[in-house]
Amino acid sequence: MTLILKIDPRKPDLKKIEQAAACLLEGNLVAFPTETVYGLGANAFNRKAVERVFFAKGRPFQDPLIVHIALLRMLHEVTQHIPDAAQSLIERCWPGPLTLILPRHPRIPAEVSAGLNTVAVRMPSHPIALALIESAGVPVAAPSANRFGYTSPTSAAHVLADLDGRIDLLIDGGMPIVGVESTVLDLTQSVPIILRPGGVTQEQLIKILDSEVLCGDQSKRDQIAAMPSPGMLTRHYAPHATLILIESENSVNACRQLVIEAKLRLDWGKRVGLLVVDEEAQFFEKLDVRIEKIGSTHNLAQIANRLYSAIRTLDEEQVDFILARSFGTNGLGLAILDRLRRAASTIINIE
Ligand code: TXA
Ligand code: MG
Repeated sequence: MTLILKIDPRKPDLKKIEQAAACLLEGNLVAFPTETVYGLGANAFNRKAVERVFFAKGRPFQDPLIVHIALLRMLHEVTQHIPDAAQSLIERCWPGPLTLILPRHPRIPAEVSAGLNTVAVRMPSHPIALALIESAGVPVAAPSANRFGYTSPTSAAHVLADLDGRIDLLIDGGMPIVGVESTVLDLTQSVPIILRPGGVTQEQLIKILDSEVLCGDQSKRDQIAAMPSPGMLTRHYAPHATLILIESENSVNACRQLVIEAKLRLDWGKRVGLLVVDEEAQFFEKLDVRIEKIGSTHNLAQIANRLYSAIRTLDEEQVDFILARSFGTNGLGLAILDRLRRAASTIINIE
């Protein structure tokens, strides 16, 4: 059975936090909110507990987990080598949505990192996540709290929909602020490489490091074998409905194409859902489709924040197709594009 603890993120109830921390230390699984998405936590030092995370999610053991810390001194239990580049990123971006790939400390079981010599580590900024990890006093290994391959959860209800009965405790702490997962940055190569774009943008990283930052283009659909980040499967974060992504630099053309694609599928007698920004809603008014508004084109943070929730809502309504367009590659646009590509069955590129 999954116990649910409701905790107010503005003033986390210490008794409840301690209860959840004790649960972690007993080797149990605790889902908790972070500022990006909900995580499914286990004591990172406890091999058995870490294995249970993989079973609960149905996640392959080749897909390594992120270790979460609450205090800088915990970093020394996760890695023995902190490169200079990491220092400045830690100062500027932690706590926050940036995961660093560093050499793995021998205390961290190999299972956490799928047998790699490296480890992914981040300090989340969510007050409940920080309080929980600090109270437990151990680093917490936590992937996103969804069934493997499905959209990451941005509410306690999403976690329950995927994992009810498969985990011991769920902290309901409301909606995350960022809404897409952390940026994963590999610092073990000669040049820093973004393995997964996320809450901290490539532009921000370049500015902080004052150096080149490469973007491992994992969104290319034909590169599964060559992926440097194990488990970063191309089709991931995927809804049950078939997602069609229109990629275009021209938003008017993209909307026209969305109308064409929607009409075609309505003619087939299919149920169609659309992810739509406020400014473009008028394009689709006359169509018999389900519309999920994901914010303003001028506010990529809002789009990122609502993206997963909107996809889940359309899935719950059992549409056959979800149609969406891309929002460029600047700033958070890259993370949004990456997630939409991974969720998509078909990508249509137009002018
Ligand atoms: O925002 C987030 O990062 C959320 C919250 C809960 O913190 N967590 C999350 O975890 O998204 P997960 O497991 O869904 O994604 C972790 C990603 C995977 O793509 C994995 O391949 C990569 O990080 N990763 C983990 N350890 C790695 C390593 N040692 N080397 C390369 N990639 C690694
Ligand atoms: Mg995940």
